[in-house]
Amino acid sequence: MSRQQVTVQLGVRSYPVIIGSGVRIELNSVLPATARRAVIVTQQSIPLLVETDIPQTTVVIGEGEQHKTLATIEHVLREFARAGLNRNDVVVGVGGGLVTDVAGFAAASWHRGTPVVHVPTSLVGMIDAAIGGKTGVNLPEGKNLVGAFWQPHAVLCDTDALATLSERELRCGYGEMAKYHFLTGDDLLSMDRTARIARCIQIKADIVANDEREVGVRAMLNYGHTLGHALEIATGFEIAHGESVAIGMLFAAHLARVLERIDDARVDYHKRVISGAYGLSTALPQDCRSEDLMSLMLSDKKALRGLTFVLDGPNGVELVADVSPAAVTQALSRMEVR
Ligand code: GLY
Repeated sequence: MSRQQVTVQLGVRSYPVIIGSGVRIELNSVLPATARRAVIVTQQSIPLLVETDIPQTTVVIGEGEQHKTLATIEHVLREFARAGLNRNDVVVGVGGGLVTDVAGFAAASWHRGTPVVHVPTSLVGMIDAAIGGKTGVNLPEGKNLVGAFWQPHAVLCDTDALATLSERELRCGYGEMAKYHFLTGDDLLSMDRTARIARCIQIKADIVANDEREVGVRAMLNYGHTLGHALEIATGFEIAHGESVAIGMLFAAHLARVLERIDDARVDYHKRVISGAYGLSTALPQDCRSEDLMSLMLSDKKALRGLTFVLDGPNGVELVADVSPAAVTQALSRMEVR
């Protein structure tokens, strides 16, 4: 049983991410010393129970992206009020990315900022959502449009939770995991699971430490996400986040090729990692129209100067603005359709 620890280095707001089997039992040791009460935010289906040594109340939120709303935040905040939570206390988010995004945003808002500890139970949560302090909810107009940067006090990635995930949930995690191959070129496949998760977290922690508020390099963590978010919305979330990111990364590779930023071998490398190593589909759903995807991509948060994508290229993966609609259409036409 290996236990690993990564520190997200943010000065006085630095925090540990602990990874390994059974690490949820370390929860008490990572709570803020001031906390006299905890509110656990979780979902009915989450199999991981956490116990703190202080009085705790549990708030259960709905399952599915349709519950990632301001209405859910209001519900959670009113439960904080009923529990008598104050800003020296602690919120604990136990669940996948939806739960930790909601718990984090509620904690950020409560009394203008209350500590939060995350116990992510999905692979996406462990290697992405629970790390780095992005919190928030969706609006009908788009994903994650309302939120706050609120760094957790600590993160416990108990790998026992992974055994409870469905094949599809694991696949979603692989979409985010594949991303780290393109950001670094690291040979992640040669590592065992705990080491690979820890390495992905370390890569993300380094990026966040350099650019907490995403004014620069942090944008690379959104690789594959511009088309990915558009696909999630266009399909009414029938395609899950990690699956959409997988399709979005191959699209980004085709777009980088159209723009002559990378060669055919690099596009093939994307296919080998995304489909070959992680078994993810990279085909566009048949009923998604290019025009609809294009307008969704134009309303993406990153699109401050026209169609904007995170693209591979001679300097690695970086943000590229003002991409022509013709190039996007050409890249979409290179995608398989299913
Ligand atoms: N999930 C992308 C980020 O945390 O920046």
